[in-house]
Amino acid sequence: MLVMAMGLRGDRIPDHHHGMLTDLILAILHHLAIVTLIVLLAFEFALLRPGLSSIDLRRLANVDAAYGATAGLVVAVGICRVIWGAKGADFYLSNPWFWAKMASFAAIGLLSIPPTLALLTWRKAIRQDGAFLPLPAEVARLRRFLHGEVALLGLVVVFAAAMARYGAF
Ligand code: HEM
Repeated sequence: MLVMAMGLRGDRIPDHHHGMLTDLILAILHHLAIVTLIVLLAFEFALLRPGLSSIDLRRLANVDAAYGATAGLVVAVGICRVIWGAKGADFYLSNPWFWAKMASFAAIGLLSIPPTLALLTWRKAIRQDGAFLPLPAEVARLRRFLHGEVALLGLVVVFAAAMARYGAF
């Protein structure tokens, strides 16, 4: 019995076990990165409001940079899940829900460009004039992009659940 167990341990189980463990670790990292991404987006929403102070502006620049880095991490871990996840890459690459999720996440990336560009412009302006503050109307305009990102994140989660459960075209 012991020999059999050892035989199994040295043979089939470790491969399978390694695959499941890799899948679990990647799943955990994916979810941690996503939670971080959502927290950072909430920070950005709270800071980017009409009447913001110059300290808020400085914090916003940091939060936005962290948001970008975390989005990169989500993509990196997501790609690792496609390649090394338990279901194999073919499952996802032929899965319409996967591509719907990729498209909505890419749209979030596009929506995040105008706020990032504005923050960079404001950072320059504040360097030249320490009292610089953006116009409330401009802040309100940028908040609309954040609203769009939040709405699309909802869609990404819907597609994520669907893609994990339904297969090919
Ligand atoms: C390039 C970006 C991304 C890639 C390549 C990617 C890839 C993946 C993969 C391969 C899985 C495993 C699904 C399965 O168990 O079969 C997964 C699960 C998941 N992803 Fe992503 N993902 C990305 C971005 C995101 C984002 C931005 C979110 C949320 C805002 C998200 C939310 C989820 C959730 C909630 C699950 C678990 C689904 C479930 O088991 O019901 N993903 N993702």
